[in-house]
Amino acid sequence: MHCKILGAPVQDGAGRMGCEMGPSALRTAGLAAALGDLGHRVSDLGTVVPASAGPIVHGNTALKALPEIVAWTAAIAEAAYAASADGMPIFLGGDHSISAGTVSGVARRAAETGRPLFVLWLDAHPDFHTLDTTQSGNLHGVPLAYASGQAGFSGYFPALQAPVAPERICTLGLRSVDPAERAALQAAGVTVHDMRAVDEHGLAPLLRAFLERVTAQNGLLHVSLDVDFLDPSIAPAVGTTVPGGATFREAHLAMEMLHDSGLVSSLDLVELNPFLDERGRTATLLVDLTASLMGRRIMDRPTRSH
Ligand code: ARG
Ligand code: MN
Ligand code: MN
Ligand code: MN
Repeated sequence: MHCKILGAPVQDGAGRMGCEMGPSALRTAGLAAALGDLGHRVSDLGTVVPASAGPIVHGNTALKALPEIVAWTAAIAEAAYAASADGMPIFLGGDHSISAGTVSGVARRAAETGRPLFVLWLDAHPDFHTLDTTQSGNLHGVPLAYASGQAGFSGYFPALQAPVAPERICTLGLRSVDPAERAALQAAGVTVHDMRAVDEHGLAPLLRAFLERVTAQNGLLHVSLDVDFLDPSIAPAVGTTVPGGATFREAHLAMEMLHDSGLVSSLDLVELNPFLDERGRTATLLVDLTASLMGRRIMDRPTRSH
């Protein structure tokens, strides 16, 4: 596989500074070498440069850095569209607002190929606010709503060329959902596996069922991995820690199942805030998880045995 690394050092969508350093930390933790050791060809495409930000007026006065995030979204969407022409783009955040651009860019590409794009959102949060419902005003809380074509973005964010239908989205790991998001997720028909479901059924059958749907429709799969999907005890470098996240074993199992599925066509690694890390352990864990997703294994297994 040709892995294409692309940095998107956005921090204006998060409530605190530091995610700007995410791409540097992931590179320092050895992402390219880990992928190369697995036999992949690796290209580092460098860093996305945002378009210039003009003034934008919106009625929700809580919104923070709307012009900046809109400018980033436009640039990231173009870069994601270009990078997804072939190979496997790996987008290094940056806060989760980058996924407004990555998902919309790869969705535009998928629409051209005629294969449906599915999205797996690994996160403590659904990031399903609209510009009208967010109370924090932090725009890392909106990208999944935007990319799936929810109302209220037009005239502010770039026009969506290929919204991802909510029926093709699965969120896994949720444990912090705002009331407006809960209602919107249910109304839209997004598949939601919260941590209660993971506790009750285990992660594997939930993920397996989704992957079987993607396979049945010959889909492409974009995976968006927010650091706070992971339990804070193993991944402290994130501004929005929520207790009770995925364990080390659960996270690697998810990555190994994704590898075995052969379905993943693009990946986001987001919300890493190296300023909050402990001797790089969270960046290192993300690199190891990415390696599992890209084929690192303990023992050989029959292929597609998920
Ligand atoms: N729902 C909360 C908010 O809107 C938290 C969002 C956290 N998002 C993230 N990508 N870490 O502020
Ligand atoms: Mn998120
Ligand atoms: Mn999150
Ligand atoms: Mn495997």
